[in-house]
This record gives sequence, C-alpha cells and structure tokens, in this order.
Amino acid sequence: MRPRDYFPLGKAYGDAFCNREKEAEKLLGNVKAGKHTFLIAPRRYGKSSLCEKVFAMSQLPWSKVDFHLAIAERDVERFILHGVTDLIGKSISHVDKLTSVIKNTAKKLKPTFELSAGPLRLELGVSYGSTPAENVAEALLLLDRLLIEKDKQAIFHLDEFQEVGEVSKGRGIEGAIRHAAQETKKLSLIFSGSNPHLIKNMFENERRPLYKLCKKLILLRISKDHYQKHLNKAAQMMWGKDLPEECFTRIMALTQRHPYYVNALCDEVWSEASTPPSVNKIQSCWDYVVESERSDLIKDFLSLSDNQRRVLIHLANVGGGYLFSHQSAQKMSIPVSSLPSAIEVLLEKDFIEKVGDQYALVVPAYKDILYGHDYGED
Ligand SMILES: Nc1ncnc2c1ncn2[C@@H]1O[C@H](COP(=O)(O)OP(=O)(O)OP(=O)(O)O)[C@@H](O)[C@H]1O
Ligand SMILES: [Mg+2]
Repeated sequence: MRPRDYFPLGKAYGDAFCNREKEAEKLLGNVKAGKHTFLIAPRRYGKSSLCEKVFAMSQLPWSKVDFHLAIAERDVERFILHGVTDLIGKSISHVDKLTSVIKNTAKKLKPTFELSAGPLRLELGVSYGSTPAENVAEALLLLDRLLIEKDKQAIFHLDEFQEVGEVSKGRGIEGAIRHAAQETKKLSLIFSGSNPHLIKNMFENERRPLYKLCKKLILLRISKDHYQKHLNKAAQMMWGKDLPEECFTRIMALTQRHPYYVNALCDEVWSEASTPPSVNKIQSCWDYVVESERSDLIKDFLSLSDNQRRVLIHLANVGGGYLFSHQSAQKMSIPVSSLPSAIEVLLEKDFIEKVGDQYALVVPAYKDILYGHDYGED
C-alpha cells in the first residue's frame, strides 16, 4: 500500500475515506428526495470528498461548478450555464427529441444543438439584452423540465458558493436561483463553500433570497473513534500491527482531528517508518508538516490586524475558554469593547471556530507557530 493513497492531501476516495456515514446518509436522503442542501464546514474538512462519495452512492448523474474564480455576474452565469449543459449531456440522451420542451422553456436563452463530437449536445447561448439572472433561472428550470420528461433525477453541486453572494450582493442571481430552486422536482442542488460565515448568512439571513431554501448539513471533524479504526487499518496493512495507543493519542492531539492535517501527518509517518512509529517519530513528522506550511500560515497571520493577531496568540497559548473576560482582554492588551469585533472578523475569515461555548483555532499548526509568542506592543 502506498501511504499517499491512504492519506491523500486532495479528495479522499475509497479506503482513504473515513466514516462520515451519518453525514453521507443524510445527504443521500436529501438528494434522493430532490431536496436541496447547504453544506457548511471550514476549509479542508472534507466537503468535496463527502459530496463525491454521496454522488457515487446515489448513482445519479451529477455536475459540479466551482465559483472560486467568479468575479462578475456574467462569470456566475457562464459557470452555471456550463454546468447545466454538462448535466443535460450526462443525464438526457436524445435531447433532440425534446425540442418542444426546450422551445417552451427557453425564452431568453438561445439553445442550439452541437454536432461536432459524439452524440448531439445541447448548448445554451445567451442573447443580447437578457440578464444573467434571467438566464440562470431559465437554464436551471430547463434542466429540471428535461429531467421530468425523462423521469430522471440529477445532482448539481455549486461549490465555493459564497463567491456568488459576494458578486451579486444579495440581488439578481441569488433571487434567480431561489426562483428556480423552489420549482425543481427532479434536480437536487447542493451548495457548499469554505467560508461558513458567508454561506450561513446567505441561507439563514431572512433578508437574503435563499433564506430557508435548503436543508442544512454541518460537517464537523471526524471523531476519535472513527479515526482509531481508520488508522489501525492502515497500520495493520503497513506493519501488521495496530498503531501504538500513545502514538494515536499524539496524532489526535497534534492535529486536533482536522482531516487535512491528520492526512498530512500520517502521510509523513507512514512514508518514513518501516516499523511501527514511536511518539518521537510522530512529533518529528509533525514538526516537518508545520515547517512546510509555516511561511503560508505566517503570511495569512500577518494579513490580520494587531488585535486579531493577539486573539490568535491567546488561543494558541492559553486556549479558548473565557475569551470575553476582563482578565483575557487584559492579558491580550485589547480593550474589552474591541474584543467582540476582533473575534467576529476571525470567525468570518475562518481562522477560529466556535465549538460549544469555546473558541478554537481552525488550523492546528498555528498552535505550534504561535506558541510561546508574546502579544506584541500596543
Ligand atoms: N472522510 C474522510 N476521511 C479521511 N480523510 C478525509 C475525509 N474527508 C476529507 N478528508 C481529507 O481532508 C482533506 C480535505 O478534503 P476535501 O478536499 O474533501 O475538503 P474540502 O472541505 O472540500 O476542502 P476545500 O475547502 O479546500 O474545498 C484532504 O486531505 C482529504 O483527503
Ligand atoms: Mg472542496
């Protein structure tokens, strides 16, 4: 077994995919019932891996659009039209037999059939004078109408969807997506993004068009028990033995069960150790992981204000209890009145998360980088 296959730094497939059974069942249930979902988790928690697992389980045609590079409404329109044509191609054979449905639904769009490669493909062009919002709504509704005709279901995954909110600022396209999404019968939409704060705001703020449109699915870190089984399976394959208990405990403590960091660390450990590792080996592999990320993480840290940096330093050194207390504020040299806004920005920017009534660093490597660091001058 190559460790890289078991502990990928990209999406986790097959044996590399640890548990998430409840989440998969829930998402699969939504998809099968034609319900829309918004999936919330910080960066690199496993949103894409979970979605792809569920797509495979569902055996339904699916397509994914990533809005990372969308900077204007026309980009959002282009990406969605592209995703819709892709999904029509994957789910509807003999689309040319459905011309009357296409004509009746596509009033603003300019549908054409593309003959060039393989089976006939439907292309959706935009006409001068129609808005991105109109075109997006029409394209989604057309896809659903075609699915209804063929009595088929399909999944459309809209990833990094917070960018759509930023581009459209709560108007136009968001409203159009709502309009279409509340009509669909056979098309299930999954919205996800790596900024939980912005995504939540799009779906839970009653003044935004997408309010109450979807089922919410929150992705937390993978539990210790599930990781223990998963890592022991990899240890058995590699060394014919379970992972020593103290090594497992150290891996959980260092990575704080952040899925990307568990894989980054285990990839190192499994690549390096020809016999079951010692705790020292785990630590030295972790130091290597932290070192290789240090400059990127410091760059992100330096983009923060002084107060925000002090809060991070505090979390790395003292922990996240009683963060709003006078004592904590004093320690951080931040006026108590300025503390809430510093914390708010860190939450928005995904540097910290709230777990129960405590705050915690999202990226465990910051603990190592900022540990022992002083709070700086006022
Ligand atoms: N169920 C899982 N079991 C084991 N590892 C996982 C699981 N899900 C995700 N991972 C690991 O976590 C990391 C992030 O996974 P993935 O790319 O799916 O997350 P994401 O939330 O989509 O990330 P991004 O915010 O960058 O889009 C990868 O290293 C992946 O292999
Ligand atoms: Mg992803």
